[in-house]
Amino acid sequence: MVLSRRKFLTLVSQTAVMLGLSSLFPKLAAAGTPPIEALRQLITSDPRTSRTIMWQSRVPLEDCQLQYRDSQGTLQHKPAIINSLQEDRVTNYYYTVYLKDLTPGTTYSYRIWQGNDVSGWQEFTTPPADINEFSALIFCDSQCGRTYASWGDNFRTVWQRHPEAQFFAINGDIVDNGQQEWHWHNFFAAVEGDLPAHLFVPVMGNHECYSLIWRPCRPRRYELSYNLPPNGNPALQNYYYSYDYGPVHFIVLNTQMLELAGIFPDLLVQQKAWLRQDVKQHRNKWQVVLMHKDILAYDEFQVNSKTLMGISDVGYAFMPLFEELGIDLVLTGHMHTYRNRGHIFKYAPASQGPVYLMSGPIGNQQYKVPEDKRFDKSAIYQPTPPNYLLLEASQERLTVTCLTAAGDLVEKIEI
Ligand SMILES: [Fe+2]
Repeated sequence: MVLSRRKFLTLVSQTAVMLGLSSLFPKLAAAGTPPIEALRQLITSDPRTSRTIMWQSRVPLEDCQLQYRDSQGTLQHKPAIINSLQEDRVTNYYYTVYLKDLTPGTTYSYRIWQGNDVSGWQEFTTPPADINEFSALIFCDSQCGRTYASWGDNFRTVWQRHPEAQFFAINGDIVDNGQQEWHWHNFFAAVEGDLPAHLFVPVMGNHECYSLIWRPCRPRRYELSYNLPPNGNPALQNYYYSYDYGPVHFIVLNTQMLELAGIFPDLLVQQKAWLRQDVKQHRNKWQVVLMHKDILAYDEFQVNSKTLMGISDVGYAFMPLFEELGIDLVLTGHMHTYRNRGHIFKYAPASQGPVYLMSGPIGNQQYKVPEDKRFDKSAIYQPTPPNYLLLEASQERLTVTCLTAAGDLVEKIEI
């Protein structure tokens, strides 16, 4: 096998990192073509005029910047904000550039520049000023064991099937362990060539909050990996946030009250106050919540309500507020199966209640999940194959289609 110069340098530097020798090769990053990893576009509060671009390296890259140009070819550059984190005996460097004042409906090319081109040109297109309709992909539980190859294969297959989708979300448990380098590295490596082309909406799950010894921990790697709209809680940046996409206001919530109880005991109280305010300020045609843990327990013991079935602790925490605020649709995951519970309203008599759908996994962790005869309106067969949701929205209608990664239709629902 003949190695290109770039692949050779990448291999040498990765080997040095693996052997803990990176400090012995200080010139590697400056002299050769330094390896950048996990180039990604992240959601902003208004994707018509802004975009966040992030990337990583395992050696510090000085003077690393983003170059971008619009269809007129005007070249601009912006320096990156750099953070670093050492966990699991590896130091990762995180680079963020926030692009603002972009023109709606315009295709931009971008690349990472450090004296030479270290990423190759990538592209993104901002949506038009008036987004009348759009579609998006909702994945969940991309966490994998042994290998992330199936996650990468599913990601590519689904995007080939829906090239018109405007963005994708991963509704929590993006990786299996929040501190383990192997999981983070392989999650990104499995989609390395495809990720820079797609706008990513991350949602924190409980697995992002597990330490190397599987104890709840502060999800520092998640905090640094995803710089998200700063419209949530400044003290909990990247934990919860919202964004608009045409007729839909998306609200990304954090359901890790259990895992984060010792670190952020006010997570629920503060989040509920913010949610009230956020929905009041952003009233679109449709209000859609993305959150990881489900509103039902499905045989998972609930610490507060001491139950294995019926409404979960997360359900008790949020369902009354969803009804009060007129949320239309709540998309969850965590249980690694698809369930449609239709409209549920229990607390606000005037409310129709949101439609509650649970989906996933898109990774390789497949389980059997018991039915909840009281609430389940429809379910997928067991054990659940990898599946995802296609969300299609316009002013007139909001539809969600569940498909397996293999392409079989599970169910199409109009909200
Ligand atoms: Fe989970």
